Amino acid sequence: MMSEDQASNRMWGGRFASGPDAVMEAINASIGFDKKLYAQDIRGSLAHAAMLAKTGIISADDEKNIAHGLNTILSEIETGSFTFSTRLEDIHMNVEARLAELIGPAAGRLHTARSRNDQVALDFRLWVKEELQRVDAALGRLLEAFVARAEEHAASVMPGFTHLQSAQPVTFGHHLMAYVEMFGRDRSRVRDAIERLDESPIGAAALAGTGFPVDRHMTAKALGFREPTRNSIDTVSDRDFALEFLSLSAICAVHLSRLAEEIVIWSTPQFGFVRLSDSFSTGSSIMPQKKNPDAAELIRAKTGRINGDLIALLTVMKGLPLAYSKDMQEDKEAVFDAAETLDLMLAAMTGMIGDLVVNKDAMKRAAGAGFSTATDLADWLVREAGLPFREAHHATGRAVALAEERKCGLEKLPLEDLQAINPSITDGVYSVLSVANSVRSRTSYGGTAPSEVRRQIRAWKKRLKRDASPAKNR
Ligand code: ARG
Repeated sequence: MMSEDQASNRMWGGRFASGPDAVMEAINASIGFDKKLYAQDIRGSLAHAAMLAKTGIISADDEKNIAHGLNTILSEIETGSFTFSTRLEDIHMNVEARLAELIGPAAGRLHTARSRNDQVALDFRLWVKEELQRVDAALGRLLEAFVARAEEHAASVMPGFTHLQSAQPVTFGHHLMAYVEMFGRDRSRVRDAIERLDESPIGAAALAGTGFPVDRHMTAKALGFREPTRNSIDTVSDRDFALEFLSLSAICAVHLSRLAEEIVIWSTPQFGFVRLSDSFSTGSSIMPQKKNPDAAELIRAKTGRINGDLIALLTVMKGLPLAYSKDMQEDKEAVFDAAETLDLMLAAMTGMIGDLVVNKDAMKRAAGAGFSTATDLADWLVREAGLPFREAHHATGRAVALAEERKCGLEKLPLEDLQAINPSITDGVYSVLSVANSVRSRTSYGGTAPSEVRRQIRAWKKRLKRDASPAKNR
């Protein structure tokens, strides 16, 4: 007859030789990834123990031993001598079990007036907050790199595109400053997210709060939070802060990806607007002439991972009843993956932007192609000849058709031919048909005129200086 153990072996399959317990352990344990939270876990426990002693919930002696034990564990983990155990499920129980080995029964007093539910909410918030501060600083470096390049190219002309067709000439500085606006918004989302998550969960306990006379304001302050959370049920069931981190990361990654795509296009021999430095490109193993924009391509691709991470956690959270459910343990890997990916993308893009070799001549040549100053001709007819814009648009269309037929630029059409299209055209029109004049004339607020671009750069420099102090709680 088969023993019960053997029966279970057969049911669960060969991989789990020791029966259903091993399967449970494998699905239940999070230590494989949540050991990343060790520093936050120990910091949280130190603050909690200090508060328990201050309020008389545990003795000063016990607190001293607990603190000493926790600090020993911290250095064991940091020097690599700590043994993590899957049987102990997660970082919280791994630390607590080791604490008991080190200091004996007093270790059991640390978990008074708390639960793993508020403990994990605390650890994870602390981690996400620190990551947001890293992203804030990385965005600051990226913005500085952009503003410097934009200043250099405030008057360098390039074609502006819509539908990826030449539309109107713009300056390269103006185009770069478009990304400054985008990454500036990303940075303000980071700061908003920090502001909103800046509340301490510890003391919410399992979900209902605790009967012990805890001081949640004390722990909040000790851990650098603005204040404690206000509703214990919400506190242990909320992962908005993780979702916000993922959604702002996804938006930022999408911005990085659009820029990466432009770099890929600009660096083709067909465009030739920019050349990537050797440090951010690779050669081909078979085609000696090639220089591939790998870093840009990988930035474009890694956006997929981050978008996936966001969808993964949104899907975990949807339909969860209040308060804590074990589903929420699945929050961490998505956030860790997105964080690692975004940090790398931001660093690579900052390096690439700083290194980019810009071919001003190629941009200038392209800026004049494709009748890019046609709108300037139409505007001139409105301004100087008093035509309604629709009529001017029509006349300009005829001029473009003629230039196309002659295979020349608008500025090369003889005056008689232009006058045959509209008799009020004078040779003053040629001044607006050049790319440089077209660009210089767009002085509306936020427009592409070098004077306006420089004004925006000045304003951004001030703003970056003001924002240079790290994002933190106010
Ligand atoms: N490892 C768990 C997590 O990441 C910690 C919280 C466990 N709480 C519980 N009631 N089982 O969510």
